[in-house]
Amino acid sequence: MKKLRILVLMHEDLVPPKSLEGYSGKEILEWKTEFDVVSTLGEIGHDTLPLGVRDDLSMIRKALDDYKPHVTFNLLEEFHGVGAYDQHVVGYLELKRQCYTGCNPRGLMLARDKALSKKILTYHRVPTPKFIVFPMRKQIRRPQRLAFPLLVKSLVQDASLGISQASIVHNDDKLVERVRFIHEQVQSDAIAEEYIEGRELYVSVLGNRRLQTFPVWEMLFTKAPDDMPNIATERVKWDAEYQKKIGIETRAAEDLPPGAAERIAKLCKRIYRMLSMSGYGRMDLRLTADGRIYVLEANPNPNLSYGEDFAESAAKIGISFEVLLQRIINLGTRYQAEWKA
Ligand SMILES: Nc1ncnc2c1ncn2[C@@H]1O[C@H](COP(=O)(O)OP(=O)(O)O)[C@@H](O)[C@H]1O
Ligand SMILES: [Mg+2]
Repeated sequence: MKKLRILVLMHEDLVPPKSLEGYSGKEILEWKTEFDVVSTLGEIGHDTLPLGVRDDLSMIRKALDDYKPHVTFNLLEEFHGVGAYDQHVVGYLELKRQCYTGCNPRGLMLARDKALSKKILTYHRVPTPKFIVFPMRKQIRRPQRLAFPLLVKSLVQDASLGISQASIVHNDDKLVERVRFIHEQVQSDAIAEEYIEGRELYVSVLGNRRLQTFPVWEMLFTKAPDDMPNIATERVKWDAEYQKKIGIETRAAEDLPPGAAERIAKLCKRIYRMLSMSGYGRMDLRLTADGRIYVLEANPNPNLSYGEDFAESAAKIGISFEVLLQRIINLGTRYQAEWKA
């Protein structure tokens, strides 16, 4: 393996320390991905330059000019606080003729807006819950074709920001209340979707042109009350105490209906291509009791932490974290950006 100079782009506040010693679990969680990636790249034998960025493009330019990285490992998810600007940073790297890991600007843009990506999926007859967008400062009126229960979430945020059990609404009053909550608390447009009761599944995809999927992953709520809907709320995703309380477990999905795993893998590869994704991604799906699959969303550059779903589902088929990161780098250096043509 060739030793590479790797510029690792990350948020200014998330530049990890050299060692975990002396930090609490909660502190570590903040910058765990950054730590795992930087430390593992070092262990593989690469030279890394971790660079914290907030709102200064000239820092990136300087690092590219001075350090001359073979590839940039992109862990940056926003620019001056705006999530949607992640695509522009990657666009800048392309303008600078710099190879980078993860998704290209077009894929980031198409997948970010949940309504836009669902419109593309619908064109290709991929089943996804019916929906309506409620923009900020506009009247909130439900179209007749959308029946309750509905799930209300942010149109563009991820990490289940603003999602709780109260996100599932059963009447127009609650719908208005929850849409306002998203507008005011998350400060974004809202999307209300048909609530799909079913198993919560995740599928990781790796590749640019030739794609590989990892085993279908499932989030289980092993100690939750029977009448509690099994949705991945903000607390379910980020509150370790709560996870323990309701018995959150994520692992390879067992006892899928015959042929479902193959069907799901094929579908996820198609979606990845429809949305122009590259590098690595993860699809979120629901599987109903009668065997129907619904796609909730596509995530370019999903959480790469060691021990999280993406890395765990790779490990399930024998791909170690080191090998996984190296493959992500190889995909980054080989991605056929337009400037290479
Ligand atoms: N239409 C839906 N039906 C059922 N559950 C949903 C629906 N939309 C979202 N959820 C639940 O909320 C979680 C987060 O929604 P998702 O669209 O994946 O947004 P995020 O980008 O925050 O991950 C999902 O993993 C799922 O548990
Ligand atoms: Mg999701």
